[in-house]
Amino acid sequence: MIFTVAIDGPAAAGKGTISRAVAEAFGFAHLDTGALYRAVGVKGGDPVLAAQSLTAEDLARDDLRTLGAGQAASRVAVNPEVRAALLAFQRRFARRDGGAVLDGRDIGTVICPEAEVKLFVTASAQVRAQRRWLELGGEAGERPLAGVLAEVRERDDRDMNRADAPLRPAADAVMIDTSELTAEAAIARAVAVVRARLAVMPRG
Ligand code: CDP
Repeated sequence: MIFTVAIDGPAAAGKGTISRAVAEAFGFAHLDTGALYRAVGVKGGDPVLAAQSLTAEDLARDDLRTLGAGQAASRVAVNPEVRAALLAFQRRFARRDGGAVLDGRDIGTVICPEAEVKLFVTASAQVRAQRRWLELGGEAGERPLAGVLAEVRERDDRDMNRADAPLRPAADAVMIDTSELTAEAAIARAVAVVRARLAVMPRG
């Protein structure tokens, strides 16, 4: 069965948590497309060459989730040649047999406009910064909350205002605002949308 769940939204909105849970609930494969851009960003050198020659090792680096890697990712992600180099892999993954969940910024708009389910997961910038700050260690971490908020805002701004594949909800996306939802409640909403769509899939 070909069945794609496209999950887009701004930084730290909860896409990763929801995507992993949806993939697990339905036995679908999951691709965190942000990791591709993060890997290109931290590799250094010519980003187009890096995108054309990404390896499993590049994607297994343990520094991909840092704030610096997020910023580096959003800088290389404005480059249309970088995006083009990563396109075919993501499209193939989306339409693989057995179902796929992809999370990113342009999955429902560019990578897989034909996705059976499109979710746009968002939350207020304050809430998102707080979550990312906690992920980075909170009080025990190295970054003040105000700095994390500034970086989240800067990255959103760059992602929303770039010319190629800007971050925006697809016209037919279901919006999930997680500002006041627990992870469990957000996951339950996403699972319900997927289940309802699966129920009307033609058999065979
Ligand atoms: O986890 P978080 O939401 O903070 O970020 P991410 O999904 O890992 O994405 C990191 C950066 O990669 C984003 O800020 C975007 O600039 C870029 N990205 C993109 O342009 N298109 C995607 N499909 C995924 C990520």
